[in-house]
Amino acid sequence: MGKCGVFGARVLCWGALMLCVLQVASAALPNCSYPGVFAFGDSLSDTGNSIAAFPEKFANAELDPNGILFPTHAADRYTDGKLLLDFLAFGVRRRPIYPVLRGTGGDFTFGTNFAAYGAPARTVKVWYKDDGFNVPFSLDVQHQWSERYKIRVWFYESPIFNPPGRLVQSLPKLATWNESLFVVWSGYQDYFFSLYDKKLTVSQTKKIVGDVVAAIEEHIVKLLTPVVYIPPATPSMIMPIAQTIMVVNLPPLGCIPAMLTLYGGPKAKYDQYGCLSELNKITSAHNKLLTEKIIALRAKYPAALILDADAHGVYTDILKNPKSYNVTAPLSACCGVGGSYNFNTGVTCGHAGLVDGKFVNLTTSLPATPCANPRAHLSWDGIHTSNTFNKAAATDFLTGKHITPAGGLGCSPDFFFFDSST
Ligand SMILES: *[C@@H]1O[C@H](CO)[C@@H](O)[C@H](O)[C@H]1NC(C)=O
Ligand SMILES: *[C@@H]1O[C@H](CO)[C@@H](O)[C@H](O)[C@H]1NC(C)=O
Ligand SMILES: *[C@@H]1O[C@H](CO)[C@@H](O)[C@H](O)[C@H]1NC(C)=O
Ligand SMILES: *[C@@H]1O[C@H](CO)[C@@H](O)[C@H](O)[C@H]1NC(C)=O
Repeated sequence: MGKCGVFGARVLCWGALMLCVLQVASAALPNCSYPGVFAFGDSLSDTGNSIAAFPEKFANAELDPNGILFPTHAADRYTDGKLLLDFLAFGVRRRPIYPVLRGTGGDFTFGTNFAAYGAPARTVKVWYKDDGFNVPFSLDVQHQWSERYKIRVWFYESPIFNPPGRLVQSLPKLATWNESLFVVWSGYQDYFFSLYDKKLTVSQTKKIVGDVVAAIEEHIVKLLTPVVYIPPATPSMIMPIAQTIMVVNLPPLGCIPAMLTLYGGPKAKYDQYGCLSELNKITSAHNKLLTEKIIALRAKYPAALILDADAHGVYTDILKNPKSYNVTAPLSACCGVGGSYNFNTGVTCGHAGLVDGKFVNLTTSLPATPCANPRAHLSWDGIHTSNTFNKAAATDFLTGKHITPAGGLGCSPDFFFFDSST
């Protein structure tokens, strides 16, 4: 069956027509290829911005067991292997996507990451540095970074300001902005940590949906709005804008191990997958409103391709059918300890301490990985999605499943292009 190809299909697949039709369809997709990938969001997408800004606060992002399946381990990512964003970037045959704040060893030729762990969609007005898993780099700040970044790229491209041979850096080309892939995955921080830090009750959290979605909508509008830049002593110019934007919605909050641990119990309502119904209502409301806003934005910006990527749909698909994804523990964290969901707020992944009087060390992947098979989990640390989920979602979005407009990016990814280990 593996030999089914566009040309060989009729001959090779005579006896198994149905399956071959599917294979021909996927074989016919062109290779995924975008000149660059640019991203905005929170710890579901950050590849190292917040650790660059606050090295002590986020020290464990570059330490095992985070990144144990990543080729170089010290990956600055809150997951076992790759993020959804990594799979998108690798899938379109590009290099790792480097964080804009990293001053050393970044290669920005194929895009730049503006996402930051702890960053909400809504503008941060007051912030304390020791306040949990939070940073002041909300979407509005990430947008400012990207605007300033474009100006600096323009500067490096300018023969007046930057004569040949003077300054050398690996940067994307402004002329490819309009052909690059922009990814916006935001809002998870706003809901998750409001509930995790008990800053808001469940019913109060439901009430922030309008503001969270408005912040995301505003960010998309900014990405699509040309800004006139007036450089010193040269004619003004219109800065390039995004043309292809993938907006990712949120996985069901009530299925996340940390939430199940904190908000579950005899009084809670559970759905058919064992997830918390009340919490799922928050993400469903978010996703519904986000889709409405995307539809309106498409009408307003017909030249842009605004994709509505349904991470919720992918998550639910796996819950419905875990075996076909080799998932055996869909509601339980890989890196964690105790309870029904392998999660305890006292000692989370990347920390060590006492749980029920017993010492637990979750700062190491020795002598064994934190769970027998990280690939069998949807949640890495009870908070962040796992490599397994991230890969499934990226595969779907690139090949056209769980995404609108129908067909998605309509291309065939090649995750082996960068590295084959996961
Ligand atoms: C598509 O990518 C594969 C490697 O993943 C490569 O072998 C093939 O030549 C590419 N096809 C085109 C048309 O670029
Ligand atoms: C993108 O912009 C470049 C330079 O301005 C232009 O040559 C190219 O045709 C544009 N591509 C698309 C898809 O609009
Ligand atoms: C599940 O595991 C089998 C056997 O190891 C493998 O062939 C298959 O590709 C896996 N499926 C997924 C979706 O990873
Ligand atoms: C946890 O285990 C690692 C690796 O064995 C060790 O280096 C570290 O000191 C341990 N942490 C504590 C608090 O004991």
